[in-house]
Amino acid sequence: MVKPITIGTPLTPSATKVMLLGSGELGKEVIIALQRLGVETIAVDRYPNAPGHQVAHRAYTIDMTDGAALRELVEREQPHIIVPEIEAIATAMLVEIERAGLARVIPTARATQLTMHREGIRRLAAETLGLPTSPYCFADSLQELRAAIDNGIGYPCVIKPVMSSSGKGQSKIDSAAEVAQAWDYAASGSRVNQGRVIVEGFIQFDYEITQLTVRALGSTGEVETHFCEPIGHVQVQGDYVESWQPQKMSPLALQRARDIAQKVTDNLGGLGIFGVELFVQGDQIWFSEVSPRPHDTGMVTMCSQVQNEFELHARAILGLPVDVNLRAPGASAVIYGQLEEKGIAFEGVAEALRVPDSDLRLFGKPESFAKRRMGVALATGKDTDEARGRAKLSASKVVPVKV
Ligand SMILES: Nc1ncnc2c1ncn2[C@@H]1O[C@H](COP(=O)(O)OP(=O)(O)OP(=O)(O)O)[C@@H](O)[C@H]1O
Ligand SMILES: [Mg+2]
Repeated sequence: MVKPITIGTPLTPSATKVMLLGSGELGKEVIIALQRLGVETIAVDRYPNAPGHQVAHRAYTIDMTDGAALRELVEREQPHIIVPEIEAIATAMLVEIERAGLARVIPTARATQLTMHREGIRRLAAETLGLPTSPYCFADSLQELRAAIDNGIGYPCVIKPVMSSSGKGQSKIDSAAEVAQAWDYAASGSRVNQGRVIVEGFIQFDYEITQLTVRALGSTGEVETHFCEPIGHVQVQGDYVESWQPQKMSPLALQRARDIAQKVTDNLGGLGIFGVELFVQGDQIWFSEVSPRPHDTGMVTMCSQVQNEFELHARAILGLPVDVNLRAPGASAVIYGQLEEKGIAFEGVAEALRVPDSDLRLFGKPESFAKRRMGVALATGKDTDEARGRAKLSASKVVPVKV
């Protein structure tokens, strides 16, 4: 039987300490949820004044892909729990830290290692677990990529660096004439320039969802799996722009989605929330990928659920009970920076908040880029159509300006 962790008093020897690796908008909300439960929080990111830095007890700026630097900080801070918020971390060091018993890694060090790499998670899902996925191949050169497409993947197809996120380096192509450009683009967008790509057959889905799945302790100390209502979303160039909850699904599609989510999260193990990304066409489901952490499309839960995905994560990792119930149909709409400037300001905030049943999160990122997510508008409604209309209207009122 596993027991909930004992919560002490922050900033005293009894403190329960949690270290966030990655402290963007998602990490910031996890930190706030942890602080509400009396946890001492340590925010780590690669740049100063990241959103989570601004609300944690202590903040550090390090290169998290540097294993030695990571270990040094963990030894100095001695957190009980390490919560990765991003993929670009020296995950081999997380495995060592976990093995040495220095801290518990959420959900497990192995899960962070498998999911930071498209090859690890895709082979696990398709080859080990037998889950339905798009047809796929890996390629280390332009020649291998051409051969993979010609020998079965076909067109249209999607080419992605094996290590990247938010659609970076990703392209959908329709013909042989575009392969070389897609290869070059993947090399430029890769997090670690590995020159290895995955090419996937393009799935003509009706819609795509994130199935938020929580592994939390039940009253008997056994791990129980909880499913949030499915989240529908729209992606533009691999980056989410809008999400809503609940996404309507046929009972069979929903059952299959949850079966897939159960299998993949059972395998990854540990405690915490997972964002299982799935494509849906009629009653058919394809597994795409999974985040072993809160998901960006899940920001909608800040208005649509009784406990949002960050609170669910915080509770689950501490061994506390969770409630995944819906509060109201809701939606989120992304606010982009639109400008390439440091220290921008936001006009129209009052107008945005005048939209009925709306709310806003401005993340406080120190530097804006045209396509950097700087905030999100949230809204509920009588149904997701009304919520989506309100969230988009609210987001559109916020205007980033140079000071
Ligand atoms: N094989 C595919 N068929 C159809 N659409 C796809 C395929 N692969 C990716 N997409 C589209 O591109 C989006 C981003 O793909 P994916 O999730 O693999 O990239 P990512 O860089 O990991 O993005 P993120 O980090 O935001 O989740 C998907 O949500 C989907 O809309
Ligand atoms: Mg994705």
